[in-house]
Amino acid sequence: MKTTISVIKADVGSLAGHHIVPAPLLEIAEDNLKKAAEEGVINSYKVFHAGDDLELLMVHNRGERSEEIHALAWKTFLAATEKAKELKLYGAGQDLLKTAFSGNVRGMGPGVAELEIEERGSDPIVVFAADKTSPGAFNYPLFRIFADPMNTAGLVIDAAMLDGFKFEVLDSKLNKRVVLQCPEEMYKLIGLIGTVNRYCVSRIWRVADNRVCAVTSTTKLSQLAGKYIGKDDPVAVVRAQHGLPAVGEILAPFLHTYFVEGWMRGSHWGPLMPVSLKDSRCTAFDGPPRMVALGIQVCNGRIASDKDGVPLIADLFDDPAFDFARREAVEMAIVFRRMGEFQPARLSEESMEYTTLPEILKTLKDRFKS
Ligand code: F6R
Ligand code: MG
Ligand code: MG
Repeated sequence: MKTTISVIKADVGSLAGHHIVPAPLLEIAEDNLKKAAEEGVINSYKVFHAGDDLELLMVHNRGERSEEIHALAWKTFLAATEKAKELKLYGAGQDLLKTAFSGNVRGMGPGVAELEIEERGSDPIVVFAADKTSPGAFNYPLFRIFADPMNTAGLVIDAAMLDGFKFEVLDSKLNKRVVLQCPEEMYKLIGLIGTVNRYCVSRIWRVADNRVCAVTSTTKLSQLAGKYIGKDDPVAVVRAQHGLPAVGEILAPFLHTYFVEGWMRGSHWGPLMPVSLKDSRCTAFDGPPRMVALGIQVCNGRIASDKDGVPLIADLFDDPAFDFARREAVEMAIVFRRMGEFQPARLSEESMEYTTLPEILKTLKDRFKS
């Protein structure tokens, strides 16, 4: 039996600037997905938000890139946009770049991470969703999880992982992909994905049997729209346990903060903060960039649920074990903010290409004398 986990997300308007998706929008998404579940389009779902991004987690049997599932997400984002406009919320419809749906939301603005799996005896899944950052934000933790034996003990101890993992990397500039195998090509992989503004890990398989283990969203809104219209706040779906990294190994890279592109105006390096769903709201300098992690069990094409059909969700960063990383993120945020608009606090000129800064600097063009 094949089951698909689809996470489709968009920023369609938020409360008080780019802070949170308010309840009326979440309710609209909930109503839309509930109806779709009753009609059998999806089997189960969870609506949540990562800061100002509305996140639709849907489990179904229609495969990846299903027109019905993408149409459902698009329709839901449109309905939420209507409400956002009515309430004059900020950035209403921000990520919906096209007006007409053409079968797939890829390239239309929303971010998509979809994983079709052959269900195992038990299939624990971790869904990550971040705000105020970009797809390259997953490069570092995914490398740690699937290639670094100092993070993932299973790479050393579990025979099922000894052959390693294959990483598909997207070159977002040329829109081309390459697959590299670890541990053999580990140094080359780091050489590529260390450049987080250009390359991003898009998919991972276990070498031994080609089992798909992880997928990320790779949308670059600026490249779609040709200008800066908000960051591409990414999502990822990761499978865990029984010959794959354990949930604890998947979460271990987040014991410390690390730096990601994004934060204020998508133009700064910021320390990533792992947070619970209740703290999934960016504040200081529109940040720091935050990440939530939801744990689910997939069960016969659905999310394992309680007797009333309410999906069982583990809010994985809702744990004092991540307090140190959060504290570290705040400390680093303060250090970087002290530097204002000077590099490395601000992104490189190349990364600022799609922001409004080049427009401003253009006014100086004729004033340079040799
Ligand atoms: C970053 C983000 C915010 C905005 C900032 C300015 O992804 O969404 O940091 O860039 O609040 O927003 P505008 O230009 O809409 O006033
Ligand atoms: Mg926003
Ligand atoms: Mg956002």
